[in-house]
Amino acid sequence: MAGTSYAKGLEGVIASESRICKVDGENGRLYYYGYRITDLAEKASFEEVTYLLLYGKLPTSKEISEFSARMRESRDLKPPILSMIRDFPRDSHPMELLQSAINFLSGYVDHKIEHSPTCNCRQTLHQITQLPAIISAFHRFKNELDYIPPRKDLSHGANFLWQLKGIEPDREDGEIMDKCLILHAEHSFNASTFTARVIASTLSTCYCSISGAIGSLYGSLHGGANEKVIAMVKEIGDVEKVTSWIDSSLAKKQKIMGMGHRVYKAKDPRAVIMEKFLQTLSRKYNDHSKLEILRKIEEVFRNRMEVKGKPIYPNVDFFSGAVYSLLDIPSNLFTPVFAMARAPGWLAHILEQRADNRLFRPRALYTGEINLPWPEKGNRE
Ligand code: COA
Repeated sequence: MAGTSYAKGLEGVIASESRICKVDGENGRLYYYGYRITDLAEKASFEEVTYLLLYGKLPTSKEISEFSARMRESRDLKPPILSMIRDFPRDSHPMELLQSAINFLSGYVDHKIEHSPTCNCRQTLHQITQLPAIISAFHRFKNELDYIPPRKDLSHGANFLWQLKGIEPDREDGEIMDKCLILHAEHSFNASTFTARVIASTLSTCYCSISGAIGSLYGSLHGGANEKVIAMVKEIGDVEKVTSWIDSSLAKKQKIMGMGHRVYKAKDPRAVIMEKFLQTLSRKYNDHSKLEILRKIEEVFRNRMEVKGKPIYPNVDFFSGAVYSLLDIPSNLFTPVFAMARAPGWLAHILEQRADNRLFRPRALYTGEINLPWPEKGNRE
């Protein structure tokens, strides 16, 4: 087998056809079912984007009012789920709770979940609509606070802020939260989405697929970059210290969080939109420190990399953590918020996988030994 070529980590391997999402990394563009992310973020709600991802088309006004009502109806958690969250060890990471809770939900849906491609998992939508309630309930119980039931008059994003804090967000904050979810709703064959599709390909349930995807997102090489960006901003502390901090980090060969992307070789279009949200919130709350430090990091880092002939740009998570911080979301919830946003994308891929299924079964290049002699008793040292 020596010399056999293979793609470690399946890098660059096309594993399936998909109509859901196009990431044009060379030109810094992103499309969901053909629609530009810039248009979706400006003109759609998270509920419309969820509809688009699940049905492959934009809804008519009648369709969105029915769909939106169905999403809002199914936001609240049943008492056994609240008990499960209350009893979950409080020092666990919220992603561990989220992964466990999503499978717990499947025991409490009204329709029969079938382990088959005919299961209509667009029906109850609990795998999408209940994530804000789960995340906020865990956060509140951990802080000895009561569960806040959802409100049907608020958008998906605004309702999350309401359930988290018990304070109704103003229109602008609610809209920015909703749009942040749109920006994270889908991103083609990344690790968590691929995980969801692999599980779906065995004809397991959508709850198992999404729980697997959440486990995959929890890993530090996937979700969590924005949490690290905020930690970096805190550590630097002052815009005057950015240049020396970047130079010393690069000298130690440390990665600058939120910069660079496997697919984008131009500025991530989501980062451009996030930066505008950050600008709006910084002005509104008269807190410019994070924006100033981030802009300086981008300027210094890009200069340093361009000199080396390696242009590297910010990705979506360079600015998202600062936006969430100004919306008063604690940084340990940033990855759960990512999961909450990505759930429609995962479900879209599960449906697409089932519609034309083929079990994923790659092979490994075996590099061990074979036909080893069985050791005599007591001779295994
Ligand atoms: N900080 C410092 N150096 C970086 C960098 C960063 N954030 N991103 C890329 N580089 C370097 C690479 O190490 C590579 O250097 P080399 O030629 O000496 O090996 C060069 O720039 C070109 O990198 P590129 O091929 O474009 O990216 P990659 O595939 O090696 O890395 C990431 C992509 C995402 C893993 C990397 O950019 C990274 O770790 N970023 C920070 C973490 C992050 O924000 N992750 C969230 C992604 S959504």
